[in-house]
Amino acid sequence: MLIKRPDDIAPSEITPQALFEGRRGFIKAAGATALVGAALAAGLPRRAWANGKFADLQKSPYSVLEPPNSLRDITTYNNFVEFGFGGKSQPAERAGAMRTHPWTVGIEGLVQKPRTLAIEDVLKIAPLEERIYRLRCVEGWSMVIPWVGFPLNALLKQVEPLGNAKYVEFITQMEPAAMPGLRLPYIDFPYTEGLRLDEAMHPLTIMAVGLYGDALPNQNGAPLRLVVPWKYGFKSGKSIVKIRFTDKQPQTAWNQAQPDEYGFYANVNPDVSHPRWSQEKERRIGEFFKRKTLPFNGYADQVAPLYAGMDLRKFY
Ligand code: MTE
Repeated sequence: MLIKRPDDIAPSEITPQALFEGRRGFIKAAGATALVGAALAAGLPRRAWANGKFADLQKSPYSVLEPPNSLRDITTYNNFVEFGFGGKSQPAERAGAMRTHPWTVGIEGLVQKPRTLAIEDVLKIAPLEERIYRLRCVEGWSMVIPWVGFPLNALLKQVEPLGNAKYVEFITQMEPAAMPGLRLPYIDFPYTEGLRLDEAMHPLTIMAVGLYGDALPNQNGAPLRLVVPWKYGFKSGKSIVKIRFTDKQPQTAWNQAQPDEYGFYANVNPDVSHPRWSQEKERRIGEFFKRKTLPFNGYADQVAPLYAGMDLRKFY
């Protein structure tokens, strides 16, 4: 897929939220004509779906009804330290150099049937869905992102986890020629993340392979990344090459880099502040006023039972 750099994206190609909503059938008939007419008058758009790779996406009951951020916000305001620590626009400027094809994902460890799957086969594991999720970063900003993906549990079941598997570790790509950030000492690469098995198997946890109906841009973690909507964004490892089942809690990139700042669980929790950033409120990218951060990022009904009996101040 041709990924445009931000400088090449003409304002006329930025996905209009109104038209996106119209495509998803959210717009009531009365307003639809005017909105679509306005979008077409602005010369919009071709990128997100006219040649979209994912045509027949199932809609998910787990989607939030909030309006998604624009494609431009989602693809130019990123964290991806393999491409440097130089600001939110750096991944979009640099990640185009990463090779994403051919791509395989190894699934191994405490499993009955370890497998290595080509990305083409990963895409066939389960019907692809559109999942509109909030993403809340520990730094205090948030977005709403229309992911394309499928439940991670469908992929994990392929290898038949053994009874003593308790955790799942995610290991991400290292391509030194394309990733200048790998030379920086701050993180012990490869970037890794980890989940408890029940978190990984939860139906809200997805493998994302696209957004806005199109394949994932490199800066967002092409060709596949984890998305765990009730946890801070950093739990969502990008460009995954290996998934390993273990019986011990895996070390993760941020725990290793700054153990006093990042816990293993990283559940969105307005009551537990990060040493540098309060977690009480968040600024939705594109908005001026802050909004209150919700426990578990608004997904408490579905996921709070996973942590029953745990002291979430200790297990942050
Ligand atoms: N995955 C890898 N491989 N490398 C990273 O630096 N950053 C994490 C996470 N996944 C990161 C990663 C952080 S800190 C966040 S907030 C999210 O990706 C950001 O995802 P986005 O850029 O698609 O919004």
